[in-house]
Amino acid sequence: MSNKISIAVAPGDGIGPEIMKAVLKIFDAAQVPLEYVFVEMGKSLFDKGLSTGMTPEAKQQVETLGVLFKGPMETPKGKGVKSINVTARKVWNTYANNRAFKSLPGVETVFSKAGIPIDLTIVRENIEDTYGGIEHLLTHDVALCRRFITRPGSLQVHRYAFEMARKKGSRRITCAHKSNIMKLTDGLFLETFYEVAKEYPEIQSDDIIIDDLAMKLVSRPQQFDVLVIPNLQGDIISDLCAGLVGGLGFAPSANIGDHISIFEAVHGTAPDIAGQDKANPTALLLSGLIMLRHLGFAAAAARIENSLRYTLEQGVRTGDFGDPAQTPLGTQAFADVVIANLGKVPGTQPVSEQATSFHVQERLPRPEKVKVMCSPKTEVETINGADFFLESTAQPSELGALLTASIGDRFRLTTISNRGTQVWPEGSIFTECVNQYRARIERQPDQTVSAQDMLDLARALSDNIKICSVEMLMQFGDKKGYSLAQGQ
Ligand code: NAI
Repeated sequence: MSNKISIAVAPGDGIGPEIMKAVLKIFDAAQVPLEYVFVEMGKSLFDKGLSTGMTPEAKQQVETLGVLFKGPMETPKGKGVKSINVTARKVWNTYANNRAFKSLPGVETVFSKAGIPIDLTIVRENIEDTYGGIEHLLTHDVALCRRFITRPGSLQVHRYAFEMARKKGSRRITCAHKSNIMKLTDGLFLETFYEVAKEYPEIQSDDIIIDDLAMKLVSRPQQFDVLVIPNLQGDIISDLCAGLVGGLGFAPSANIGDHISIFEAVHGTAPDIAGQDKANPTALLLSGLIMLRHLGFAAAAARIENSLRYTLEQGVRTGDFGDPAQTPLGTQAFADVVIANLGKVPGTQPVSEQATSFHVQERLPRPEKVKVMCSPKTEVETINGADFFLESTAQPSELGALLTASIGDRFRLTTISNRGTQVWPEGSIFTECVNQYRARIERQPDQTVSAQDMLDLARALSDNIKICSVEMLMQFGDKKGYSLAQGQ
């Protein structure tokens, strides 16, 4: 019986098949004990009318094998289909996106020239945030995107980040956020970070506002070690970090879940150079090395990484980087040089097997039913009212008068805002409005109200005004579950 581990492989679109061929050739030459099960995913499936972008067999194989090594895949524009890359990460709950950014020899950057080595790991939350893709047009002028940050989802990603930092021997882990503005969403991400941090007292844990982080990363990146960041902010910061170490050609990525993990490069299908044997396979190779470590093949990973580093040190390059005086190699020829150099060790920063064995992660058994995550409820929940999102081009004072006259004795209109800024009862004549207001209607202090009461109120109000959406105002113990309007 073969003692190889089987993984699903999807070569992808554009440059995907070329770089995948190069990387698997290197793995085979290094005698990595892997068996590849090729699965069909990507553009050709969308073209055949499969809106999921994968065949049912591909889905089943990935779910059985638990590991998908994939090339970049194209999201067809304007066909109403969702990105298969994002769908795969979300459907299979790969909640942590691990992106490692390390200076490489032979890859010149502002920092390499200044003699400053970079070794940063970003753990980006991978499921939630605006990537829920829950968007609505409230009026013909106004689009709204819902941004989810959840306690269980945040705990999962923080725990992964701390576990990884502990195994890696990291000195510091920093949570980046914008909780000064998004107090409830990013506030929850930050609160859960410090809850988990208590279990890892040996690691210095701190936090930083995301814009401050962006500035500090371009001026003194060496002060950071592991960063844990919500999805969208993490996406932007990780491309910034790719720039610090030489560009997208050097940015690997691992999407880690409890059951299924996906390994891929950060870059896309590079349609401008597809099929020309020009693409740099390094980012996919580095992603493959994270995969080998994840599977426990640390020695093979170290051997290949040392060969890659040695190769780069020699000035061997593809067309997208390196010294223009050296003739660039094609994708396959570059891989052949890495193969020829297997067993060689770079003069600078050789990678040891021990130092790279930290990623090993056990796969949990297949779940029997869908896991519903819910933390214990400890506080009494009450409904204080609702925010009514209305379509109107009336003046705020007119709207205030109309609503006040329509809501009855049990309720009071406490504020009206437009694009998040209060315009009633107080406001500024200079606040420019659009045709969509939010009216906050709360219960009178001596009243209790139910969700049904608020929906009945919406029904009654809709005789005179167009209601686009209703959001309940929840209170959990002493904590209000809603933010104030700007200027309220
Ligand atoms: P891209 O990353 O494909 O290309 C941006 C630029 O970087 C291009 O000039 C390209 O030639 C260059 N480049 C990228 N990878 C390279 C490599 N390995 N070697 C040398 N040069 C490289 O980004 P773009 O053009 O925005 O997206 C193209 C397609 O890729 C889109 O359909 C997009 O949806 C998809 N995409 C897929 C991703 C994935 O599968 N995870 C991630 C990002 C984009």
